[in-house]
Amino acid sequence: MLSPNTPTDSLVSEAGAALLSRYGVSATTVAVAPGRVNLIGEHIDYCDGFVLPFAIQRAVVIAAAPNGTSEIRVATSFDTDGAVIPLGAPQEISDPKWSNYLRGVIEGFRLRGIAVPGFDAFIVSSLPVGAGLSSSAALECAMATLLEGFTGISLGTREKALLAQKAEHDFAGVPCGIMDQFASAFGKADQLILIDCRSTETEMVPFADPALTILVSNTKVSHELSDGGYAARRKSTEDGLAAIGKTSWRDVTPADLNGTEGKMDAITFRRSRHVVGEIARTIGAVDALKGNDFSKLGGLMYASHDSLRDDFEVSCPELDHLVKAARGLEGVIGARMTGGGFGGSTVTLCQADKAQAIAAALVASYEAEFGFAPEIFATRPAEGARLV
Ligand code: GLA
Repeated sequence: MLSPNTPTDSLVSEAGAALLSRYGVSATTVAVAPGRVNLIGEHIDYCDGFVLPFAIQRAVVIAAAPNGTSEIRVATSFDTDGAVIPLGAPQEISDPKWSNYLRGVIEGFRLRGIAVPGFDAFIVSSLPVGAGLSSSAALECAMATLLEGFTGISLGTREKALLAQKAEHDFAGVPCGIMDQFASAFGKADQLILIDCRSTETEMVPFADPALTILVSNTKVSHELSDGGYAARRKSTEDGLAAIGKTSWRDVTPADLNGTEGKMDAITFRRSRHVVGEIARTIGAVDALKGNDFSKLGGLMYASHDSLRDDFEVSCPELDHLVKAARGLEGVIGARMTGGGFGGSTVTLCQADKAQAIAAALVASYEAEFGFAPEIFATRPAEGARLV
C-alpha cells in the first residue's frame, strides 16, 4: 500500500541517461533538490509566524552539460520537446509554463551580476505535481544549485532560498511565503526545520527516532485554482492585521484579537484567529517534540487541521476524510492537511511499525468514499538541495 520512494541515485542515473539520449551529451553537473511537507505552522509563513517543515525523500534532479552557446536547452520527462532559454538579456515569462520557474532563477543570478553559461539539461522528478509537496520550489532550488555549480559561485543557503522564492513570485505569479524554498534548501536528514519567518532564522529540530515515521497522503485532487484562493487568504490576513493595528502578527496576543472582533468582518476575524492560534500551536509543537510529549503534539496537529478547515477554509472533503480516518487508527499520533490546501496532501505522524497497516486502512476508506485511491508514501526528513 505504501508507494516506494525512488532512491536519489536512480533518479540521477535516469536524468543522465535522458540527457544523453535527448541532447547527446554526458552530464558534467547534476543538482538535486527535495520537496517538502510541513508538520505544523500552516498559512503563517507570510504572517511572520513559525513553521516546522522538512525536506522529503522525493526530489527533482537536473543533469546538465555545457553546450558552448549562449542559450540553455532543457527538456523534462513530461515534456521532451523542451524549452530554449536565451541568456544575456533580462528573462521574460514565456512558454512552456514550467520553464518559467527556471527563467525566474536565471533572472535572479543575472540581477546579482552572475553570468550564466549555456548548457543542455534534462529534468526528472519523483515529486507528484500539484500535490502540495512543493515540486515548484524543488525545481527552483535545483536550478539555483545547478547554476551555482556552473558558475562556481555559492549564494549561501538563505540567499539561494530567497532567490528561488522571488522566482516563484515574479515568474509564476504566486505570492508565496518563504517556507517551501527554505525547506528545500535547508533540509537535513533526521531534522525538522523550525523557521522564524520574521527573522528568517532557522533552527534544526531533531526527528531521528526510528520508531516514528511520517506518511504523506496525496488526495490527487485540486479543487480551486490555488493561486486565487491563496492570494485571497494572504490578503485577508493583511486586512486583519491592519484592523488590529499592529505591524506584525508576532506582536498580536489573543486578547488583542478578541478586542477587535467588531472592527472587522466575520470572515477576516476567523482568518485572523487561525493566524494567532497557529503561531501558538507551532511553538507548542516544538516544545512537545523536544519533551517527547507525542500526545500533545498529536492534539496540536488535529487542532491545526480543524482551524484550517473551519477558520481559514483551505481544506476540502478529501483532506478532511483522510485526517478523520487516520484519527481513529492504532499507531497514529496526529494528522493534518499540509501545504496550501484546496486539495493536495495530508501529513500523518505515526509509529513506523504500523505505517503499512495505517496506509492500507486509509486507502480502503478513501477509495470507498471517493471511488479512487490516494497515493501514500512514508518519508523521513531528508537532505536539502545539493550538487551530486
Ligand atoms: C504554499 C506556499 C507557502 C505556504 C503554504 C501554506 O505552500 O508556497 O509559502 O504559505 O502554502 O502554509
